Amino acid sequence: MADVERREFLLFDNSSFPVTEAIKATRTNLMFTTAKERCPVISFTSAHMGEGKSTVCANMALAFAEAGFKTLVIDADMRKPTLNKYYKIKSSPGLSDILGGLVKENFIYPTKYKNLHVLPSGTIPPNPSELLTSERMSILLNELRETLDYIFIDTPPILIVTDAIALSNKVTGTVVAVRQNFSRTNLIKEAVDALNNVNGKVLGFIFNDYDIESMAYNKQYKYGKYERYGGYDKKPVKSASPVSLDDD
Ligand SMILES: Nc1ncnc2c1ncn2[C@@H]1O[C@H](COP(=O)(O)OP(=O)(O)O)[C@@H](O)[C@H]1O
Ligand SMILES: [Mg+2]
Repeated sequence: MADVERREFLLFDNSSFPVTEAIKATRTNLMFTTAKERCPVISFTSAHMGEGKSTVCANMALAFAEAGFKTLVIDADMRKPTLNKYYKIKSSPGLSDILGGLVKENFIYPTKYKNLHVLPSGTIPPNPSELLTSERMSILLNELRETLDYIFIDTPPILIVTDAIALSNKVTGTVVAVRQNFSRTNLIKEAVDALNNVNGKVLGFIFNDYDIESMAYNKQYKYGKYERYGGYDKKPVKSASPVSLDDD
């Protein structure tokens, strides 16, 4: 599996029309899929590293916050935390410190985005899976759910460590990130089987980083009556042409 260049970015600001539409459509789908629950807790995972779990999780959280929902995003990838970099906050104290009883307060950080708060991963602990399956984690989620509209959780890859599986029973459901020209179907299936084996609910898949130029749908818009996205965006770009936070 190819190594990917690491860079944290949030789409949305100045993203092209197809990209923002895809994000909004995913937001709507997630809202419908979890509509029965008050403050759904949605975790993001994938089979392996580099498939876009953190990118998708960070961006979905932002999409919900921008729609006016009081949103919290939790970094439960305690071994390789990245969410703090997207929002430019520190990574500890955070989740592991709360679950390990090292701190009394719930450290939740505001971001520059309205309605969006982050609970970073915290000090890197020796036993992330144990912490995530603990009763304390259930209590914390229930406490947080009382004051929020949506909670998103970023997790490590399913086929590398058991953390996401361990957490899957404490959440409303799990979204699996799949990346074009990168994810392998047999491994995606293995990851989904692992979630099913513990009765974790798979809410759906997010097809990350697809080349919009190659999609038949794009041709239809290009040559159809809407003429290139109705003139909103004259130059179709790759779905993953994100805007770095460093650029603003
Ligand atoms: N849609 C995308 N477009 C461009 N680059 C992306 C996209 N999604 C992820 N990446 C890149 O791939 C790297 C790995 O993504 P990340 O979200 O950290 O994966 P994971 O959390 O699954 O390990 C990121 O640092 C980013 O540079
Ligand atoms: Mg990640």
